[in-house]
Amino acid sequence: MGLTVTQKIIQEHLVSGEMKAGEEIGIKVDHTLVQDATGTMAFLQFEAMGISQVKTEKSMIYVDHNTLQTGFESPDDHVFLQDVASNIGVIYSRPGNGICHQVNLERFAEPGKTLLGADSHTPTAGGVGMLAIGVGGLDVAVAMGGGPFYLTMPKIINIKLTGQLSPWASAKDIVLEVLKRLSVKGGLKAVLEYSGDGVKTLSVPERATITNMGAETGATSSLFPSDEITREFLKAQDREEAWKPLSEDEDAVYDQELVIPLNELQPLAACPHSPDHVKTVQELAGMKINQVVIGSCTNSSYLDLMKAAQILKGKKVDPDVSLVLACGSRQVFQMLADNGSLAEIIRSGARVLECACGPCIGMGQSPKSAGVSLRTINRNFKGRTGTKDAQVYLVSPETAAVSAITGVITDPAGMGEPVSVALPERFAVDDSMFIFPAFDQREIRRGPNIKALPVQEEMADDLQGEVLLKVGDNITTDQIMPAGAKILPLRSNIPAMAEHVFEPVDPTFPGRAKEKGGGIILGGDNYGQGSSREHAALAPMYLGVKAVIAKSMARIHGDNLVNFGIVPLLLADPKIYETIAQGDQLDVKGMKAAVENGAEELNVRNLTSGKEFSVKLLLTARQRKILSGGGTLNWMKKQNR
Ligand code: F3S
Repeated sequence: MGLTVTQKIIQEHLVSGEMKAGEEIGIKVDHTLVQDATGTMAFLQFEAMGISQVKTEKSMIYVDHNTLQTGFESPDDHVFLQDVASNIGVIYSRPGNGICHQVNLERFAEPGKTLLGADSHTPTAGGVGMLAIGVGGLDVAVAMGGGPFYLTMPKIINIKLTGQLSPWASAKDIVLEVLKRLSVKGGLKAVLEYSGDGVKTLSVPERATITNMGAETGATSSLFPSDEITREFLKAQDREEAWKPLSEDEDAVYDQELVIPLNELQPLAACPHSPDHVKTVQELAGMKINQVVIGSCTNSSYLDLMKAAQILKGKKVDPDVSLVLACGSRQVFQMLADNGSLAEIIRSGARVLECACGPCIGMGQSPKSAGVSLRTINRNFKGRTGTKDAQVYLVSPETAAVSAITGVITDPAGMGEPVSVALPERFAVDDSMFIFPAFDQREIRRGPNIKALPVQEEMADDLQGEVLLKVGDNITTDQIMPAGAKILPLRSNIPAMAEHVFEPVDPTFPGRAKEKGGGIILGGDNYGQGSSREHAALAPMYLGVKAVIAKSMARIHGDNLVNFGIVPLLLADPKIYETIAQGDQLDVKGMKAAVENGAEELNVRNLTSGKEFSVKLLLTARQRKILSGGGTLNWMKKQNR
């Protein structure tokens, strides 16, 4: 039987398990990536493991999230990261060099290799045929130390692209169509693998937009084959030697297939407050807007920004609209400056930000209250912009730029001649904003924002506790552990950060958790979707949360809970959710023994209502050892002894 591209890469990297969907496998990790918001913790964890140097082919830290320096916290983190990176062998990308996924695609991503990144949009590198997976920082720390990455062998969903996009439709519209069809849960435990004759019509940056936002379906990864287009891109980046061809076998078998005829697609928009609430731009046309944001790791390539520049050329931004724009990398910024497009952008009245995540992570540029913001980013969860009642629509750069001029949501298809941009034969390659490791064992500068890692205890024999909080469906990690300009700089200071856990849902949660000495969280469907942020497990752990019981749970978050010694439990009968109230006392006798013995179903007594119900404990043998020992860090320390 033939293999898919995903299976070929996994086969080459397999260190344990069998390639059967649903089985746990271990794979060798070639590259790792962290960014500053996940990196401080990952580096502290790496230090705690007592390993002196990274053992991967390449490891990178990109400073792109906390670049807004409103206090000492972020700059303290930056120097800490720079020092540790130099000592342990990690390439440091300085603030201003760009957004991790864009820069990584340009300079380091390689077809056929594996990348583990502490950021949920790591699959962007799938644009060149790399198997790139977003995880929590601790998993990356383990991989930096040479440990394999363990995952459930994914099923492979084939997304067959046929034909060619009509002139005003774009790569963003393709992935919005995927989201519309699969929903924010449809990619769970799967890799989205693209094929079909339509693939040949898409450049690498366009493919990367699609693999980037595949993360919103919950997919483990997304990837394209590596072909002549990939080769041209790498050649233009001065990296042709990294190229190798990679395609599925003719008789490859997929678990599911989805066909998207590209010529039928029209400009789309994801409506508030979920990336899968997709409508056509035409359906929304005429809606007044207050803000337009062009940028983020989804749409900030040379191609995206050049298209925006061409649309803005000779026009003015509507007086009621604030257009902010950020290139994904210094390379893109430099090229726009060199070819004069930046001047056109400035002339239009756009506000140009530095090359960083910025508004995407709520670091500045919050819309006005109840404002309508059109963004080219990948997420529109409530409150992520910093304005609770903002309405965020996710669109392509073309739709965003056209609408910035008209002041209302506008279908670019009605705007006359479509823009067309070709990729250059050679990009402006300049690696001077990377600091390559010196291995000089320098003294590490630790500012007051760098606090010691909280330590989890070994699991108790029984689990007893109060339901500290009952939440509904689709709770995001943004809601569990919000980011934004006030909270994000506290990433390396867990006691301070923990004060904000569940702030958008119930600000009294941290106080209650501390008063009760910890307890249990009750979630609905798809608990922990969204960003990979491990702080959504780490900070609750610090507050004494021992277990999360939910109807269903997002993959990365479930793994993060295990990593930090919090038990992820699923309701055997989702209807039981209605019978449990916040404040109920729950009791699971023999919890630790059940974890260790491989029990898959457990009995929970609700001491308040007197009812009993079953929960599922769906863990691998390795995860069970980690949980009973108090999390990955304790487990790694034991292994290294
Ligand atoms: Fe940054 Fe937003 Fe991407 S925070 S890494 S631009 S999803």
